[in-house]
Amino acid sequence: MYKIAVIPGDGTGPEVVREGLKVLEAAGAKFGFRYETVHYDFGGDRYLRTGETLPDSALEELRGFDAIYLGAIGHPDVKPGILEKGILLRIRFELDQYVNLRPVKLYPGVETPLKDKGPEHIDFVVVRENTEGLYTGSGGFLKRGTPDEIAIQESINTRKGVERCVRFAFEYARKRNKQKKVTLCGKTNVLTYAFDLWERVFHEVGEKDYPDIQRDYAHVDATVMWMVKNPEWFDVIVTDNMFGDIITDLGAMIQGGMGIAAGGNINPEGTSMFEPIGGSAPKYTGKNMINPLAAICAAGMMLETLGETEAAQAIDQAVATVCSRHLKSLAAGQMGYTTSEVGDLVCRYIA
Ligand code: IPM
Ligand code: MN
Repeated sequence: MYKIAVIPGDGTGPEVVREGLKVLEAAGAKFGFRYETVHYDFGGDRYLRTGETLPDSALEELRGFDAIYLGAIGHPDVKPGILEKGILLRIRFELDQYVNLRPVKLYPGVETPLKDKGPEHIDFVVVRENTEGLYTGSGGFLKRGTPDEIAIQESINTRKGVERCVRFAFEYARKRNKQKKVTLCGKTNVLTYAFDLWERVFHEVGEKDYPDIQRDYAHVDATVMWMVKNPEWFDVIVTDNMFGDIITDLGAMIQGGMGIAAGGNINPEGTSMFEPIGGSAPKYTGKNMINPLAAICAAGMMLETLGETEAAQAIDQAVATVCSRHLKSLAAGQMGYTTSEVGDLVCRYIA
């Protein structure tokens, strides 16, 4: 019996999570796993009502779950940063979800903006470091608001943090068993401390423990170029938090958009959290127009991580079928189906 915490969150989060849970139920019925869910109302509305983002007690409770399923965090009436730092980043950090795993996979029938590229060219994953880098909040102001103002934002990279992330990437390449290649995406020509560490750890660990995995390196600016021109070169990309954030939005676009892009915040020894990577899309809220496939794919990743491999594969297969046989587009309002109809279709193919 799995214990799953559900945080529907803001905007369209609740709508897409509802569809994801529907699919989870269909998968449970078919593959015979059981679970219970506990819903939490963290997000912008709660914050505006109570001034609270994430109570400490809740954080402790979350550690007791097998997984967390998240919709979206971000509210138009709340200053940027408060909810993101107070809820999303806080969970990632405090639960030590040190990898943000983001598959970039083009399903058959889905349109990519890349000319002459198809599903055979776009199938890789980004392993984004998720607890360090520029995201730690290290730094500060001096003489703020004066003409002599100084703002410092430091990138924190620890040997331990880099090593566990790099190891995860090598393990993942082995498990995928495709090109068996890991590309380190960095900026060794300018960030000569941070990526010096990354590069040394990458080669040390790779040479010693993963001789079967090919090692490749690309600067981040070249990485985005190749993602557009030759995405088939990539199998597993490993990178730091900030670069990973940026390149995975490009990744989402080449796989057909935010409507299908899912991610997992993984702590292999603890509680992981799964989410569609797009935002709360306030303008579509409550309209039953948003694409729930990203949230559904996130539920699939959750099952994969929980060890329900067959169920995860069935969801993946059903999503592929819905894309190729049904949806006119992955964009909100242009799918030819409503949010709930897309969820129903996925359930039908799972059953
Ligand atoms: C993401 C988001 C977050 C991030 C924001 C909302 C803090 O863009 O999950 O990629 O930068 O990590
Ligand atoms: Mn992002």
